[in-house]
Amino acid sequence: MSRTVYVNGEWVAEENAKVSVFDRGYLFADAIYEVTAVANGRLIDFTGHAARLARSLEALGIKPPVTNDVLKTLHFEIIRRNELTNGLIYLQISRGAEDRDFLYSASLEPTIVMFTQARNVLANPRWETGISVATVPEGRWSNRQIKTVQLLYSSMAKMEVQRKGADDALFVEDGFITEGTSNNFHIVTSDGKLITRALSNALLHGITRSSILDIAEKNGIPTEQRSFTPDEAKSAAEAFITSAGVFVMPVIAIDGQKIGDGKPGPISQKLRSLYIQHSIDTSEGP
Ligand code: PDD
Repeated sequence: MSRTVYVNGEWVAEENAKVSVFDRGYLFADAIYEVTAVANGRLIDFTGHAARLARSLEALGIKPPVTNDVLKTLHFEIIRRNELTNGLIYLQISRGAEDRDFLYSASLEPTIVMFTQARNVLANPRWETGISVATVPEGRWSNRQIKTVQLLYSSMAKMEVQRKGADDALFVEDGFITEGTSNNFHIVTSDGKLITRALSNALLHGITRSSILDIAEKNGIPTEQRSFTPDEAKSAAEAFITSAGVFVMPVIAIDGQKIGDGKPGPISQKLRSLYIQHSIDTSEGP
């Protein structure tokens, strides 16, 4: 079925959607993006995603092509036009198109593109099995708090570890884990404390991460924000990743070493069900 996508103010069938070959998103990865989950036809954590989008645009000096209110209306409209019940909305804004030059004009009009991906975000079969991850050296640029489309290193790292049998890669810098290829990484200690890396330019400020920290605190799960090594993670009681795509996904092995008893842990599972409840309670519909 052909999706209806949004390109620069127009709703078009996906096969007719066009962006210039001179677009700086295409030539320079000069673009930022957001991925927002949709559950039961409603937006999850939209306020956080819109706020981070604004921060990413500001950091790159790209002028916001639409206001936050219009952005929300566009999200509702793409759900409606694609009859999306559960899935993801991808939004990308690039600086715009002009003849190729490392220097760009201040007057560029940003390119905005949105599309949907239908997927049962409320019932991920991997939640039951958990996933395995493998550590790789951090190789991304040093402004990872900006959600840019420079995803080549992350994509290659994930391909490489999948060839070796792991599901995802975990980046390590100066001896400490930064995050996963497209998710934040967390551990739970044997005394039930949730540990996650503190925010800095070393990692994306995940919207799901932030909600999970709030939910943990409200439900009596102590939290601590600090860096930790792969060795500490391997000897943790539990580990899990968070993102808009997988919510809370247990990690059952790191570099082939079992975490805990090698099964999804109770705190990870509890946080996931609390997150789903929170998502539904705070979701936004038209
Ligand atoms: N990725 N870290 C990185 C590098 C990410 O790309 C993502 C999200 C996250 C989690 O952020 P959030 O909880 O706001 O989704 C952390 C999206 C889902 C993607 O690229 O598809």
